[in-house]
Amino acid sequence: MMYKEFGKTNFKTSVIGMGTFYDALWIAWAMIFKVQRGKAKKLEALKAGLDSGINFIDSAEIYQSETIVGDAIKGRKRDELFIASKVWSNHLRPDKVEKSCRRSLSKLNTSYLDLYQIHFPSSRVPISETMGAMEKLVDQGLIRNIGVSNFSFAQMTEAESALKKHELASTQMHYNLTRRDVEREILPHCEKERIAMIPYYPLAHGKLARSARGEAIERICKNHAGISYSQVALAWLTTRSPQNFPIPRASKSAHVKDNASAGDVVLSPDEMKTLDSTF
Ligand SMILES: NC(=O)c1ccc[n+]([C@@H]2O[C@H](COP(=O)([O-])OP(=O)(O)OC[C@H]3O[C@@H](n4cnc5c(N)ncnc54)[C@H](OP(=O)(O)O)[C@@H]3O)[C@@H](O)[C@H]2O)c1
Repeated sequence: MMYKEFGKTNFKTSVIGMGTFYDALWIAWAMIFKVQRGKAKKLEALKAGLDSGINFIDSAEIYQSETIVGDAIKGRKRDELFIASKVWSNHLRPDKVEKSCRRSLSKLNTSYLDLYQIHFPSSRVPISETMGAMEKLVDQGLIRNIGVSNFSFAQMTEAESALKKHELASTQMHYNLTRRDVEREILPHCEKERIAMIPYYPLAHGKLARSARGEAIERICKNHAGISYSQVALAWLTTRSPQNFPIPRASKSAHVKDNASAGDVVLSPDEMKTLDSTF
């Protein structure tokens, strides 16, 4: 597994992380019936990822998965892990930001978050108010870094300007071989400013793990001792930019181990060209 500094946080995370959004129905069951379906399997998957060298786990208060992450990291060295969560859009007023953060910390059973992200931008709460609250959390030692998610380029730069004492550590965006809009403005900006990019849906909901799109990709798999399509899709992201830290969903041990192995793969310029022209 390769490790790289996450943005300019001074923390080296595995180039592959683990996502813990399962699906909307799963969340509804957890919220309404207080049942985390298939919890044991999900816990086992996260532990398998940690045992494979992944040290970066992404969650969010809305995912209802924070307690599973908390169980997965129990007994591990906290300072070797990079744990991220997100505040939901209706909790962006300062008092609510702090309440949400403390609730996430309690569910995750940890005293601090390595990264706290604004899940979606809000048209109702000025970004300066929310960022002020995020900076207070850093000063209180409850979070180490501030990130955003689903922000347009303009919203992202506005968020950066709203920060007075700390810098933006990351952005999390829909990004994979088949969805590349972030490459226009956001990714070049991340590279210039050393802001980490966390591509979500890195496997296009699993589509990229199932389909080779022809012989050229099969050849890339063979070039690297028979790696999976999923590893090719993830290695494309990690090779594409030093700021990319994709977070494929971690819900099945075998898949997580497969994805962790992508953290050792670097594609050649020719292979990158082949993928660019195929998708
Ligand atoms: N910031 C946001 O607004 C936002 C929005 C959506 C998602 N996210 C984050 O992004 C993460 C990833 O999104 P996602 O889970 O929907 O999409 P994804 O990771 O692109 O795809 C997940 C699908 O791929 C399958 N898969 C994973 N690894 C595989 C492998 N090695 N071989 C074959 N199939 C494999 C999974 O099956 P199994 O489940 O059976 O392994 C699942 O069906 C989420 O968990 C969440 O943390 C963030």
